[in-house]
Amino acid sequence: MELVFVTNNPGKLSEINHLLGRDFVLKSLRDIGFDGDIPEVYPTLEENASAKAFFIYNKYTVNCFADDTGLEVEALNNEPGVYSARYAMVGNKTGYTDRDELTRANIRKLLKLLEGKKSRKARFRTVISLVINGIEHRFEGVANGQIIKEMRGDKGFGYDPVFLPDGYNHTFAEMNLEEKNKISHRAIAFRKLVNYLNTRA
Ligand code: IMP
Repeated sequence: MELVFVTNNPGKLSEINHLLGRDFVLKSLRDIGFDGDIPEVYPTLEENASAKAFFIYNKYTVNCFADDTGLEVEALNNEPGVYSARYAMVGNKTGYTDRDELTRANIRKLLKLLEGKKSRKARFRTVISLVINGIEHRFEGVANGQIIKEMRGDKGFGYDPVFLPDGYNHTFAEMNLEEKNKISHRAIAFRKLVNYLNTRA
């Protein structure tokens, strides 16, 4: 079965490609000739993932799936959530042209808002929306942990340097990809999706 992953992120594509059985041919947005932007305008990860998947399904009539991930921090009413990628820009007119600078600004904002808070509990949550023949199936992966006070590690991306997963002494940014993939939200959600697809095939 041909399946489009609604992304152009090569890391995500190869992560899932090597889990999928030979019955599947995985394609990216670029592979199907889509180079536009799909707006992520909804307040929940579920709605954004669904909207992205149905946008592509309706435009190309191809079976496809889309993911959306957010960091949900208990003491901040589950923020940054859907705003994780651009947290420092919420309520702030300053633009960030440099991706690394935006990431550092996001982390600075998070640490500032958590100053003095009793709970530093947080979780990463990934939601995947799979649309096959117009019918949606959802999968979720969660990684629970704590936001530490200072950045540790230089691997990974995003909030990895301040996320200490429960039961580990290393932040996500101190783990190599293989270690992170054993417990990460995205890997858990991907594995659920892949199990479902491989059983269906
Ligand atoms: P996306 O939905 O996968 O694009 O993720 C949205 C945002 O959540 C990213 O831009 C990051 O800021 C954050 N994020 C998602 N996954 C991770 C992760 O594994 N580690 C750190 N940050 C992440």
